[in-house]
Amino acid sequence: MIPPLDIVILAAGKGTRMKSDLPKVLHPLAGKPLISHVLAAADQLKPRSICVIYGHGGETLPQAIARSDLAWARQEPQLGTGHAVQQAVPYLDPNAICLILYGDVPLTRYETLQEMTLIAREGAIALLTVYLANPTGYGRIVRNAHGQVERIVEQKDASPEELAINEVNTGILCLSAGKLSGWLARLGNNNAQKEYYLTDVIGMATDEGERVIPCHPAAEWEVLGINSRAQLAELERLHQRNQANQLMADGVTLIDPARIDIRGSLICGRDVLIDINAVFEGDVVLGDGVQIGANCVIKNVEIAAGVQIKPFCHLEGARIGANAVIGPYARLRPGTELAEETHIGNFVELKNAQVGFNSKINHLSYVGDASVGRKVNVGAGTITCNYDGVNKHRTIIEDEAFIGSDSQLVAPVTVGKGATLGAGTTLTRDAPAGQLTLSRARQLTLPGWKRPVKK
Ligand code: UD1
Ligand code: CA
Repeated sequence: MIPPLDIVILAAGKGTRMKSDLPKVLHPLAGKPLISHVLAAADQLKPRSICVIYGHGGETLPQAIARSDLAWARQEPQLGTGHAVQQAVPYLDPNAICLILYGDVPLTRYETLQEMTLIAREGAIALLTVYLANPTGYGRIVRNAHGQVERIVEQKDASPEELAINEVNTGILCLSAGKLSGWLARLGNNNAQKEYYLTDVIGMATDEGERVIPCHPAAEWEVLGINSRAQLAELERLHQRNQANQLMADGVTLIDPARIDIRGSLICGRDVLIDINAVFEGDVVLGDGVQIGANCVIKNVEIAAGVQIKPFCHLEGARIGANAVIGPYARLRPGTELAEETHIGNFVELKNAQVGFNSKINHLSYVGDASVGRKVNVGAGTITCNYDGVNKHRTIIEDEAFIGSDSQLVAPVTVGKGATLGAGTTLTRDAPAGQLTLSRARQLTLPGWKRPVKK
């Protein structure tokens, strides 16, 4: 039988250098908490269980993550990484293999971890190490005369010769859960930091003749941890650059790959073009040939083929049909559904509005809680008065209606098919189909009126 996989994620540490009230692992990278990246990689490995060791910040972390399928073990006080993993022992299956991850090391790739589980399933200990030009601060990997890993020595306990080693411990390892539990029970804290070091397990294991197989990440960013806001910002840029490179490899044109932020998932069709400073959040889908202008923020939006989003648009929770033209300076709020070939222009706000084929709302309008038919023209400055201070009401504008500029449609109200509203109309009752409706004080001119003059 293949041994099951139990994953332990260490996240009890204080994160002092963040200088934050928020637990470190809840700080966001690419729009989601650091630990959520780790959990996503863990989930991909299809483990039997995941146990998170938490402590600093109390219940904030389990409450924020709110996943009932996780085991949560509180470590209080925090006496070192070995002590942290000890808290997970009650949750481990002795026949399982155990993978140790860190809530503040967010970008380790599934492939790297998968390889480690294969090694552990064959009975060895997989240890993720990396060679660093400057190894200061890390535990060093001590190898024997045959080049085999023998033990790990922490920076503060290392001799000058050991400090010269530039192969360092990333902290990530995978090994038999049963054996791990035995070694953890025998850990002492007789070291420079008076801590129970998880790393001492490696020396214990090799003393018993266990094999330690070092694994290496494909790139250094896979094992970078976050200790400060500066490191968080650096890793954010690195991750964004990786995502940008992937998009370009998939055939997307990025005017500047250093100026795009994807905080969620972005799926692109063929020949999509994205200008500078676009921010994508949540789940965004861009169809073939879509063009995104500079400085747009786009969240949870589905955009069909051939759509042009001009600069400075803010789009959220919308669906946009093929060949629509949006912006510049348009705001689409949740519930907006635009049919094909619609035109939404500058300073137009739409909310919970469905707009039919080839209709145009081009200038300075608010259309909320509305159904707009096909080939409707909504003139500049038109406003749906959808809110009476207590309740929201719907406006219905039927096919081919023409709404004169600066009209107010006081909902609930309907404009019939092919109706025309005169400019400046305040519509409080339904406008009949095919006719001109207007509400407007009559224009008058006073004969003989003279401007006052200065006395
Ligand atoms: C640890 C390793 C070191 C390695 C380095 C990589 C040990 C003894 N040392 O050192 O070899 O090079 O990571 O970054 O393991 N944590 C707890 N409870 C604790 C202590 C730590 O949950 O009591 C968590 C922290 O939140 C953090 C992780 O464990 O996510 C690592 O702890 P940290 O104190 O940063 O370990 P290092 O001293 O950096
Ligand atoms: Ca650390």
